Amino acid sequence: MRVLGIETTCDETAAAIVSVERSGEAKILSNEVLSQIAAHAAYGGVVPEIAARAHVEAIDRIVARAFESAGMKPSEIDGVAAAAGPGLVGGVMVGLTTAKAIALVTAKPFIAINHLEGHALTARLTDDLAFPYLLLLVSGGHTQLLAVRGVGDYLRLGTTIDDAVGEAFDKIAKMLGLPYPGGPSVEREARSGDPERFEFPRPMSGRPNPDFSLSGLKTAVRLVAERIAPLSDRDVADLCASFQAAVVDVLVDRTRAGLRACREAGIKPSSLVVAGGVAANQQIRNGLVRLATEAGLPMVAPPMALCGDNGAMIAWAGLERLRLGLVDDMSAVARPRWPL
Ligand code: KG4
Ligand code: ZN
Repeated sequence: MRVLGIETTCDETAAAIVSVERSGEAKILSNEVLSQIAAHAAYGGVVPEIAARAHVEAIDRIVARAFESAGMKPSEIDGVAAAAGPGLVGGVMVGLTTAKAIALVTAKPFIAINHLEGHALTARLTDDLAFPYLLLLVSGGHTQLLAVRGVGDYLRLGTTIDDAVGEAFDKIAKMLGLPYPGGPSVEREARSGDPERFEFPRPMSGRPNPDFSLSGLKTAVRLVAERIAPLSDRDVADLCASFQAAVVDVLVDRTRAGLRACREAGIKPSSLVVAGGVAANQQIRNGLVRLATEAGLPMVAPPMALCGDNGAMIAWAGLERLRLGLVDDMSAVARPRWPL
């Protein structure tokens, strides 16, 4: 079974083809991603109108390349999936319309995918991972703890009451004059910084409900940065390292609360899984490995290339749905908001 997946919810124009062989082995046959970072960098964040136009310009080429690198013709796929939200609606419409057109022309099933479900199921593409598992989903727009019980069966245990983790990284980077996207910039600076120089708060730590709050931490960083300005390179590195250390502690503490919530709900997770753009952060991965070891569970994280937005995660979620007979019709619409 081979599925084409298209992703255009934010600032990546992406298309991929994934397959499941008769042996049950999952494979990525192609994975084309065109990042729009350069187009948005001057604005310090994603500009929706620029993103939508850039998707229109790139989508045909990216889809053609996904077929070329897989060595396949459109008639050889078994289904077409596209992220139908949540995200910037102008961009979502580009991917969704393209996918519907390909499905119509090839007379193959069409599958509308929730972008968050794409992140949630990615680890099953690269690892032999059984349901249920506890997922920490951390991206630029979302921060959630989910008990993933099956395809389409997600129990949300906790979420952020203000900023998403990636958003906090992006705002701190902007505040410190570091380039967009902020996550990789802050992680790079933090490598040469002292994580103990500033003692930042760990919001929500110790609370039983596995929710998150990051705006207080962000404000604490801003207040210190303003107090010690003008900032030297050393100051910036120390601020980044101290901020990142606080984020790691918060994510570990909140995920520990998520494990407790699973137990209380009678759910026995097979693994602890992290996904989303922020899952690329090595210190966060290390913190979660420590927690998983403490809980006696394996920690599973997708390879770096599959943490940020990509087409393979949408193709894979499409394949998981298609093999259960969960397909959509052409009335599926782009949804700017779409809780999992
Ligand atoms: O999943 P993603 O590509 O897009 C969304 O669905 O939001 O996540 C992008 C987010 C951005 O906020 C970016 O700054 C963050 O992931 N990010 C990181 C790292 N790499 C990307 N945050 C922390 N550390 C990183 N290494
Ligand atoms: Zn994402």
